Amino acid sequence: MGDAATQAKSFLSDKAGHFTESVIREMTRQALLYNAVNLSQGFPDFPAPAEIKLAAQKAIAGDVNQYAITWGAKSLRNAIAAQVHQSQKRIVDPETEITVCCGSTEAMISTLLAVCNPGDEVVVFEPFYENYGPDSVLSGARPRFVKLRPPEAENGEWTFDGDELRSAFDRHTKAIIINTPNNPTGKVFARTELELIRDLCVEFDVLAITDEIYEHILYDGAEHISMATLDGMRDRTVTINGLSKTYSVTGWRVGWTIAPPEITSAIRKVHDFLTVGAPAPLQEAGAAALVLPEEYYQELAERYRERRDVLLPVLTEAGFRCFRPRGAYYIMTDISAFGYADDVSFTHHLVKDIGVAVVPGSSFYLDPRDGSRQVRFAFCKRPETLQAAASRLRNLSKS
Ligand SMILES: Cc1ncc(COP(=O)(O)O)c(C=O)c1O
Repeated sequence: MGDAATQAKSFLSDKAGHFTESVIREMTRQALLYNAVNLSQGFPDFPAPAEIKLAAQKAIAGDVNQYAITWGAKSLRNAIAAQVHQSQKRIVDPETEITVCCGSTEAMISTLLAVCNPGDEVVVFEPFYENYGPDSVLSGARPRFVKLRPPEAENGEWTFDGDELRSAFDRHTKAIIINTPNNPTGKVFARTELELIRDLCVEFDVLAITDEIYEHILYDGAEHISMATLDGMRDRTVTINGLSKTYSVTGWRVGWTIAPPEITSAIRKVHDFLTVGAPAPLQEAGAAALVLPEEYYQELAERYRERRDVLLPVLTEAGFRCFRPRGAYYIMTDISAFGYADDVSFTHHLVKDIGVAVVPGSSFYLDPRDGSRQVRFAFCKRPETLQAAASRLRNLSKS
């Protein structure tokens, strides 16, 4: 390394040095480089609903182009409160309990910065959505990982061990992050599992931070249960959600938190100094999105079920062992049949020689070895994209 590079590196913070660049976003860049079909990053390649695009255009034409109220446009906060009331029979005060952020990504980091002190610990299920690790580091907290174990049978569920979870809780535990429906596993946490987590949160006085951005993407009759609706959890839960996945607008960067007023007030301060606010016209469009009729959500889940059911047999046929998702839009797979040294070399072969980009399993684990036999496919893509991937995957040979 040259002197200039060494000098520049000396300016970096310990925090930034602590984590690597996002592998998921890197895979999208590689997909472009090799002209591969991109089944890595979880963004749809089909259009967003026409009515919400129109609402965004109208808001811009109507000059909603200046800062919104820092914690969110009133119209969107009201729409969020109304939707939560309708779907969960839960009363949320849009004036004191909702904060609109730049995506659920910012909602998560603002929440952690609002509640964590150095030395605090945050329990995270592993494999985990890769932002949670750096989020904990940025907030000064130490992540404590608890394993989700893959099912033995093709139709089984990912499970966790209650004793292992309990042993991750102690006097340093500030919060637990729960993502249901789950990325990358497709697990939808059952009521009994959430109750077990609830009991630990109450016993150890711990906050639950729940990332529910795939709440409407469910299969096989799976039911989404929002942690805050469980007895005893309303005052110790921060619910995170957003427009990205439900309305296929990942580039709009609109998400939110729902939390008790005291926690909301802290989140709002962090959020204000981090970003000032989410894009004002897109918040207005968000208010229009949240009043789409019930059929919209049924249709969304049904279209994703079709895509899942197209990709599952293609992958099985190609030699992957698939873990059938119950929610979200990813398929985690086992790649043992291909005989590669690890997930990264296999992923490289897939993007460069076969022409399909996926995410190496190791990026969802603290210890890369734990994910070295797994890769994740995203199926939030047009049928043509999935067919293009299918025909390329036929060239993949097993060892
Ligand atoms: C579990 C999970 N949380 C959050 C995000 C990011 O959401 P947003 O676009 O609202 O920041 C993703 C995106 O893939 C995700 O999978």
